[in-house]
Amino acid sequence: MLYTLIFLLFSTNLVLSARHPALPPFLLGRPTAGGFLRHADKLHNFEEFDGAIAGLTQKTIQQPVDNFQTSNGETYEQRYWYNGNYTQNKNIVFLMIQGEGPATDRWVSYPGYQYLQWAKEFGADVFQLEHRCFGQSRPYKDTSFPGIKVCTMEQALRDIHNFIGKMNTQYNFKNPKWITFGGSYPGTLSALFRAEFSGDTVGAVASSAPLQWTLDFFQYAQVVESVLRQTDVNCWSAVNTAFTNMQQLSLSETGILKLNDYFQLSPPFQTGNYTQRDIDNFFANLYSFFQGVVQYTYDGRSDATIGGLNVKNLCGKMTDATVPDVITRVNNTINWINQMNGDPVGPFQNSYDDMMTVLKNVTFDDESAVPGDIAANRGWMWLCCNELGVLQTTDQGRNIFQQTVPLNYFIDMCTEMFDPSVDIKYIRDKNIQTLYAHGGNAGYQATNVVLPNGLFDPWHVLGTNNTDSVNHMTPISISGAAHCSDMYPVYDGEPVALKAARQTIHDEIKYFLGL
Ligand SMILES: *[C@@H]1O[C@H](CO)[C@@H](O)[C@H](O)[C@H]1NC(C)=O
Ligand SMILES: *[C@@H]1O[C@H](CO)[C@@H](O)[C@H](O)[C@H]1NC(C)=O
Ligand SMILES: *[C@@H]1O[C@H](CO)[C@@H](O)[C@H](O)[C@H]1NC(C)=O
Ligand SMILES: *[C@@H]1O[C@H](CO)[C@@H](O)[C@H](O)[C@H]1NC(C)=O
Ligand SMILES: *[C@@H]1O[C@H](CO)[C@@H](O)[C@H](O)[C@H]1NC(C)=O
Repeated sequence: MLYTLIFLLFSTNLVLSARHPALPPFLLGRPTAGGFLRHADKLHNFEEFDGAIAGLTQKTIQQPVDNFQTSNGETYEQRYWYNGNYTQNKNIVFLMIQGEGPATDRWVSYPGYQYLQWAKEFGADVFQLEHRCFGQSRPYKDTSFPGIKVCTMEQALRDIHNFIGKMNTQYNFKNPKWITFGGSYPGTLSALFRAEFSGDTVGAVASSAPLQWTLDFFQYAQVVESVLRQTDVNCWSAVNTAFTNMQQLSLSETGILKLNDYFQLSPPFQTGNYTQRDIDNFFANLYSFFQGVVQYTYDGRSDATIGGLNVKNLCGKMTDATVPDVITRVNNTINWINQMNGDPVGPFQNSYDDMMTVLKNVTFDDESAVPGDIAANRGWMWLCCNELGVLQTTDQGRNIFQQTVPLNYFIDMCTEMFDPSVDIKYIRDKNIQTLYAHGGNAGYQATNVVLPNGLFDPWHVLGTNNTDSVNHMTPISISGAAHCSDMYPVYDGEPVALKAARQTIHDEIKYFLGL
């Protein structure tokens, strides 16, 4: 009750800030409030008010509910935005592809974003397209199974193709030069769209785009470990000791009761009334705090990251000599992360059942500040369970997070959230199909595509380094940078390698446009 009250106070103050109290900060690498790119925190004091920004329009187009079975005539309204502020009527068109969350005004109108600076420079018409099954773009009125089966990457790629065709007619573009943009999962869409519908565009920018959609994504934790080690070897060993000690405590009743006290677990583990799954859930949530900081370290994405929510300061907390007990340091680290993110600092949410109540809810949350923000967590889980995989375990053998987050934790979540038929075999087979359908990273080939990745970003290992200079397929590895860092505004003190990366992207765009 008190917890709910604190949550409400926070949400009215900061409007978009707080995550749902029953959810961890991250689910499968995706921030539970706001998604991969639209961090819930304010960005350089930019406020967004849907529909109220001059020069911006928001409309919908009709799309088939099922692009592979159009004969039944079922359609839905897909939402898009048009920003006409930069056009010089040159038939240059930029499309920001959105993904696993509601689209908002922000990514199509905050002028600091890199692609909008280039829109200004090149005089582009700018569009943004919301992904089906997120925000207001709803094939069906809810996200229940089996209707949710039309929520796929394959369908989304065809939606983009339909969209470009319709805009060409509607805006009367003559020999238009479209360039798609996207970061994270939408980066994948941008990359695959370029490869598979190359006639629609002249080029693509695909930032931090995973192409090797692997099922057991233990490599994520390997990168986190490596980044901690590169930052400060004492930090790496403090995390190792803390997780060793915590795993040890989780093995006995008396140890479990100590974990209650360390983290003020809510609800606490009760003697004789918890399962291994509850313990896995505790560790998965704990690990997700470390994931979140590393994934966005040194990014210019929000006031929090610019203000110091980064791996260096995380290591400061984990090596704080004034706090002798390493597990207490973990608790302090979590409190610091919550505080930096504008989330309530308080009891550690520890109810698997409460989390699942939210994730099983098939109703879109129209009452949220950004309608569909909570439902997007279920949508992201569906994309992963049904196609993408990327279940972020600690299954890689000896590692600093120990054997704490197993694959079956996520498999069970998938089955419980959607349907008994969504079992390990289904999840594995669909994941392999997705990989083969698009060639994985080894087979990814396209012309005129830039593929930037930050080397501190745990996702970068699923990207591609395939290079084809003749056909302008250009991967970029950005030292010391994180997830989608090339997309955000420049800020003082950012990783130095970003400057050259942005220059390369800029020059490629210029080339795509024939300039
Ligand atoms: C368009 O430009 C006007 C005037 O500079 C500005 O107030 C408005 O916010 C801009 N809109 C977008 C969508 O960029
Ligand atoms: C055991 O935990 C469940 C929730 O996990 C709860 O509903 C139930 O009341 C608990 N039982 C006891 C005896 O505390
Ligand atoms: C852990 O943090 C919570 C605040 O969220 C605090 O109430 C609790 O006392 C802390 N535990 C320790 C051991 O310091
Ligand atoms: C499901 O979500 C809807 C919309 O947010 C909400 O009104 C409803 O209370 C939720 N149901 C449960 C069981 O939590
Ligand atoms: C690409 O190359 C960089 C080294 O420049 C490496 O760190 C990174 O892991 C490679 N990415 C992939 C997907 O192999």
